Amino acid sequence: MTQARKLYVKSYGCQMNAYDSQRMADALAPEGYVETATPDGADLIILNTCHIREKAADKVYSELGRLRELKDEAADQGRRVVLAVAGCIAQAEGQEIIRRAGYVDLVFGPQNYHQLPDMLARAEHGKVVETEFPSDDKFDHLPAPSRASTRRRGVSAFVTVQEGCDKFCTFCVVPYTRGAEVSRPVAKIVAEVERLADAGVREVTLIGQNVNAYHGSAPDGRAATLADLLYRLARVPGIARLRYTTSHPLDMDDRLIEAHRDLPALMPHLHLPVQSGSDRVLDAMNRRHTRAQYLDCIERLRRVRPDIAFSSDFIVGFPGETDEEFEATFSLVREVGYASAYSFKYSPRPGTPAAELEQLPEALKHERLQRLQHEIDRQLDAFNAASLGATLDVLFEKAAKRPGQMVGKSPYLQSVHVMGSANLIGGIYPVTIDELGSFTLSGTLAQNAALNLNENGSLIVA
Ligand code: 5AD
Ligand code: SF4
Repeated sequence: MTQARKLYVKSYGCQMNAYDSQRMADALAPEGYVETATPDGADLIILNTCHIREKAADKVYSELGRLRELKDEAADQGRRVVLAVAGCIAQAEGQEIIRRAGYVDLVFGPQNYHQLPDMLARAEHGKVVETEFPSDDKFDHLPAPSRASTRRRGVSAFVTVQEGCDKFCTFCVVPYTRGAEVSRPVAKIVAEVERLADAGVREVTLIGQNVNAYHGSAPDGRAATLADLLYRLARVPGIARLRYTTSHPLDMDDRLIEAHRDLPALMPHLHLPVQSGSDRVLDAMNRRHTRAQYLDCIERLRRVRPDIAFSSDFIVGFPGETDEEFEATFSLVREVGYASAYSFKYSPRPGTPAAELEQLPEALKHERLQRLQHEIDRQLDAFNAASLGATLDVLFEKAAKRPGQMVGKSPYLQSVHVMGSANLIGGIYPVTIDELGSFTLSGTLAQNAALNLNENGSLIVA
């Protein structure tokens, strides 16, 4: 029996990183590592980093400064703390991290974490930097999480189906940090989803940097599309909800749109980033579609699934963006009407084409961001307000902070609170929304669900 050691993983950035962090913990579990929620007392600390914008990168270096103190204090008490930097900054900067922060022991990229036990053994004897793209599939080498740890992670799970990106938008580091598009075979994804369902997972979000470009091999030897995969996964017993993210408008093919019509499990909420509403800027970003094509895609989705809601990402202050071009983005946001959206100031990333162009003043970017964000906030509020009085299916996830309350997610990813007991967890019940909070909704279990409650508010399972 190996001695239990404590592992602390901090994840930055996207959902892919959150998933990778879990898989790192899975890779280390057989070595006796148990996850903890704080860095204090941990034997191994992994920062799973994001390189997408400068701000994300800055955060990591300041966190490293703090962890250095923790490591020094532990060393004073004769305890070794191994400090590792993983993820996209590790991939992009490699050795440079050790040059800047000499107290870091281990640096490894997103394609290397299955080698963690081996890298840790090597880190006993000196610094280790591992950022090669190995030819083998890391997923083949990763141990599956135990049923108990899957349960602990809850009723909603991420599954990576595709990694990397071949689109080369001129602002984006992803093609450099995550490499070329690679899709996992259908059979392996199905097996992972079946295993999750068996442990009680009800909702699966398929993730990939460019998930709708998925082209994994099917059992018949052909390449399956994301639509094929969704139709297949909708048949896995126990899986009641499917989502996928993040998509590129160019890869929304007809069959994928039809899947939104045909599959009740496919939730009516889609993150479809457009970045800008100006054709000139879209072209300079190398997005390879126009504003009209994006709007047409939205329209086609709405036609097959009238209750669908959208979210998007926007970049303001891309090099050369004029006032009129920014207004075009603003008007697109108005025209679509989003449930939610993320907006960012353009941040020049080393090695990307747009970083070489003349940059706009910070103050201008700031002003545009404020204006756009204001409109996005207004739309978010309006979307939530429209839920008032409506009855939404809620997948219950866990106990809420307030005693006696449970919390779950609506089809639109809104958090919904109700009075109820832990028996609700994992179930999907209609909830009538009667109150709007700042970030959450509250409601009451609708009549037919409430009928199954005993006097303590516990669900009576038939
Ligand atoms: N600057 C600002 N935002 C960026 N994004 C990607 N690269 C940059 C950049 N260089 C945003 C895009 C993308 C989201 C994940 O991050 O909007 O969709
Ligand atoms: Fe950040 Fe992109 Fe890496 Fe995700 S893939 S962590 S968003 S740089």
